[in-house]
Amino acid sequence: MSSFDRIGILGAGRAGTAFARAAARAGLDVQIASTRTPRQMRYHLLQYAPQAKAVLAEDIADGVEIVILAVPQEDLDEVDPDWVANRILVDATNRWEDEPLPTWFEERLAAGLSSSEVIAERFVDATVVKALNHISHWAMDAPRSDEDRAAVVASDNTEASARVAELVSALGFVPVVADDLAAGRHTEPGTPYFNVAATSEQLTRQLLS
Ligand SMILES: NC(=O)c1ccc[n+]([C@@H]2O[C@H](COP(=O)([O-])OP(=O)(O)OC[C@H]3O[C@@H](n4cnc5c(N)ncnc54)[C@H](OP(=O)(O)O)[C@@H]3O)[C@@H](O)[C@H]2O)c1
Repeated sequence: MSSFDRIGILGAGRAGTAFARAAARAGLDVQIASTRTPRQMRYHLLQYAPQAKAVLAEDIADGVEIVILAVPQEDLDEVDPDWVANRILVDATNRWEDEPLPTWFEERLAAGLSSSEVIAERFVDATVVKALNHISHWAMDAPRSDEDRAAVVASDNTEASARVAELVSALGFVPVVADDLAAGRHTEPGTPYFNVAATSEQLTRQLLS
């Protein structure tokens, strides 16, 4: 499958299920995984993402071009990079000050990388695109009164950015494509438009700051 008929979402918590609901509203099929088996996720998904299909985490990339990563960064030791090899991996995660991180993560952050760049090093066979991390699960579900609400798409791969921009648009946001993955820093917690509605003009200015 080469388009957005179906996407994968790794993580079925507040963010993952909100992305799943938004994708379902956009007419996309969604497969979603967590630490639990599909059977164990059944009642959770009935409540939070009834249209999503539960799969095992190792099967999250089957038949999809794009997988959204919605697993807390502290749990990324348990996510096998091979699960998402040769896919576009949308890094929707955030670095929280008090979150204990795997050692490899801490070390590379200390070396000056943004959290998405660290994730790109870790998931080396995937094409990492930072997106959707600065939109809260509440905003994902909100009726689009803020129709020009924008969302940043940051990657070192132009083609992958364009694909994720299509997805962001399908989910109801105006994509603002950044020059590179490192620009994802401008959307992290503590930045002006984190969980704050912004127009594409505002986000474009923020990316240049
Ligand atoms: N909450 C938001 O509004 C929001 C919005 C945008 C981005 N984010 C970011 O998204 C990330 C997740 O946040 P959240 O609020 O959704 O957290 P959450 O509610 O705690 O959900 C985390 C999910 O990750 C799953 N998970 C943990 N380890 C896993 C593994 N090894 N393999 C597969 N799945 C695994 C958990 O599985 P189980 O269910 O089996 O425990 C759970 O479904 C964070 O980095 C956060 O900053 C959050």
